[in-house]
Amino acid sequence: MRHQIVAGNWKMNNNAEQTEDLLNALIEKLPDDAAAEIIVCPSFVNLSQAVQHLEFTNIAVAAQNMHEAASGAYTGEVSADMLKSIGVETVILGHSERRAYFGETDQSLAKKATTAIENDMRIIFCVGEELSERQNGIFEEVVQRQVRNGLFHLSEEAWPQIVIAYEPVWAIGTGETATPQQAGEMHAFIRNTVREKYGNDIAEALPILYGGSVKPDNAREIFSHPDVDGGLIGGASLKAEDFAKIAGAFSEHS
Ligand code: PGA
Repeated sequence: MRHQIVAGNWKMNNNAEQTEDLLNALIEKLPDDAAAEIIVCPSFVNLSQAVQHLEFTNIAVAAQNMHEAASGAYTGEVSADMLKSIGVETVILGHSERRAYFGETDQSLAKKATTAIENDMRIIFCVGEELSERQNGIFEEVVQRQVRNGLFHLSEEAWPQIVIAYEPVWAIGTGETATPQQAGEMHAFIRNTVREKYGNDIAEALPILYGGSVKPDNAREIFSHPDVDGGLIGGASLKAEDFAKIAGAFSEHS
């Protein structure tokens, strides 16, 4: 059975007090026996707080981004070493909002991926096509390029540290989700792309998450495809009850 993950991407939400409240509510509401690993991704400012607060729980903490350099004159940026030093072992890279609003490219993301692996961090690497690319029928090509350009320079040894999140841009924060069939087909396509380069064992072990308007009432259906190994949840991860239901939906399915 592949490793399963339900991760909450809080984006730029929650100050210190709200972080405290949400963490407390999550500890109370999340199922103890969830089949999936549960991860929360607060802002950089609240990562330390979250790590300490969740120390004796089974909820892990990940960062939403990091810089590719080890250190230096990069005002406003955060390094892998800084994250590791406060106990953060996982980082989201290449979220579509980073690509769209902060100029992240396949090339810069490839460097970030190298740095994360060199620092022995786990990567949740996001890929996904825009609406026009889906409508024009080039969505597989776009996603394949993102996977190849961002990750295919890495050695086989790096792959146990990699998780891919398929997040069609048109489904993020829009209330529109990919159908279970669309998600399942793309996940299988991504897995095949990885299989062609790295072989069957690595491809079969790779967790591929779906992201984009996952809610309590659609989670079970989306997670039901055998190639969907969990979810990256935005809006619904800000409400403990909804996030807990999504995590629960996954456990029931598996
Ligand atoms: P959403 O965001 O669940 O609010 O659509 C998903 C994401 O951006 O990771």
